Amino acid sequence: MATDANTTQLDGFVFPAWVNKMVLLGLASAGLIGGYVATVGFFATHPKVINVGHMPEQPVPFSHALHAGKLKLDCRYCHNTVDKAAHAAIPPTATCGNCHGGKDRVKEGATLAAVHLKSEKLTKVRESLESGEPVEWLRVHELPGFVYFNHSAHVTRGVSCVECHGRIDKMEVVYQAKQLSMKWCLDCHRNPDESLRPVDQVTNLGWDPQGEELKKVYDEELEKAFGHLGRSVVGDSNDLRLFYYDGKAGASKAGEFAVNPLVNKQNLQHVFAEKIFGEDPKLADGDGSGDISLAEALLYLKDCRSSPTRKDLGVLLKNAYKIKPKQNCSTCHR
Ligand code: HEC
Ligand code: HEC
Ligand code: HEC
Ligand code: HEC
Ligand code: HEC
Repeated sequence: MATDANTTQLDGFVFPAWVNKMVLLGLASAGLIGGYVATVGFFATHPKVINVGHMPEQPVPFSHALHAGKLKLDCRYCHNTVDKAAHAAIPPTATCGNCHGGKDRVKEGATLAAVHLKSEKLTKVRESLESGEPVEWLRVHELPGFVYFNHSAHVTRGVSCVECHGRIDKMEVVYQAKQLSMKWCLDCHRNPDESLRPVDQVTNLGWDPQGEELKKVYDEELEKAFGHLGRSVVGDSNDLRLFYYDGKAGASKAGEFAVNPLVNKQNLQHVFAEKIFGEDPKLADGDGSGDISLAEALLYLKDCRSSPTRKDLGVLLKNAYKIKPKQNCSTCHR
């Protein structure tokens, strides 16, 4: 990509073009490395963005605690672009009208469409439905214009809304729960392990499996990602061979093991190391030798499978789906 030219960090640092537009003269004169530190340290406290607790009064007293919490509406029922686009759409009043619709709906016998028809709290919703003018919701979260953010890039990779917005499903009125500073973005981009979960749980904000439940999730994800490879990690290395072959060819003749060119010890070791440990091979290097033996690999996976932590699950997901958040400037400044 052409933008790679302005992604150099520290060494031979080049400011992206957009920086010129900002009043950052002091920063430039502070020197290149100093400039970067100042950027991350000083500017990370930009007051408008780190507005934790910011809670504007909305034109309609819409409660997420009620709609997303108690009624369990999925976030995507209303924010229906969140997993497809950069921005998470704020729903049009027609979406509210599905339940707070008005007399026509009542006649049709749609009971849900008649919720609180006369409530004063819904006056503006009814007016909006009639006039076609949108309700003027106030923004809660807002990054500066020179920052590029993308919802779908996160949501489709297993980063839940809760990591960035807190327990929206418990909020009567939405407020900003996290800093949204550059440091905050980067902290996760550098180390996303504990923030990753199965993609089908991203809108389940209270998801927090423990013990047996977490174990089940780990096993399912292992199976989903690696199938036969995952199943194989029971018992000793004999089982491993058998199961590996099993999954691969649907047969169970251990004798044929040796003639399958795909399945040899070195290969298995390689597959394990690369797929399951990815860039974190140290995790499985029990004796600290720098090499992972098959025995170490097995031991590590057995460990994970018998009592996985959220980090173990995150490492598995990260490597299985090759999740690698970028950190260069042009990722977020274009
Ligand atoms: C019934 C529709 C509906 C559902 C379901 C819903 N929301 Fe919302 N959401 C809205 C509306 C309307 C607003 C704008 C008013 C407000 O801020 O409360 C909003 C605002 C927000 C905002 C603040 C946007 C900003 O301006 O920064 C966030 C964040 C958010 N929702 C997250 C969620 C999450 C996470 C879920 C699922 C747990 C969810 N919403 C479920 C309708 C919904
Ligand atoms: C799937 C149906 C459904 C949708 C869609 C829905 N609501 Fe509701 N809403 C309800 C129900 C049910 C209640 C009442 C719950 C109760 O009283 O226990 C309610 C209550 C409310 C109330 C409180 C009314 C009062 O007098 O207490 C407001 C305000 C409200 N909704 C606004 C909205 C807005 C704004 C939207 C669109 C962004 C919306 N609702 C979308 C089902 C829905
Ligand atoms: C990695 C962090 C992150 C995750 C995950 C995330 N959001 Fe956001 N969200 C943000 C940021 C940052 C903004 C402000 C974006 C801006 O100003 O351009 C935002 C803004 C919003 C808005 C306002 C409209 C918009 O796009 O600016 C809504 C609504 C919203 N988020 C809903 C959700 C929902 C629903 C989910 C989960 C399905 C979710 N978000 C997941 C960080 C996140
Ligand atoms: C809780 C963790 C987390 C936080 C917080 C977070 N991100 Fe991310 N981000 C990720 C992950 C995971 C990915 C997906 C990486 C992948 O697909 O390899 C990602 C991807 C992205 C991408 C897409 C990059 C590409 O590959 O095209 C952008 C842009 C981005 N993040 C910007 C931001 C910004 C801006 C913020 C802060 C406002 C932020 N992120 C906060 C975890 C996070
Ligand atoms: C993962 C996303 C991400 C990456 C990567 C990133 N930034 Fe940022 N940057 C942000 C966000 C978000 C803000 C806004 C935070 C704020 O205003 O407090 C920001 C703010 C800034 C600002 C401050 C502007 C101001 O007015 O406060 C500068 C300068 C900056 N970034 C430069 C850089 C440089 C140089 C790099 C590469 C070394 C970089 N950024 C990489 C997300 C990112």
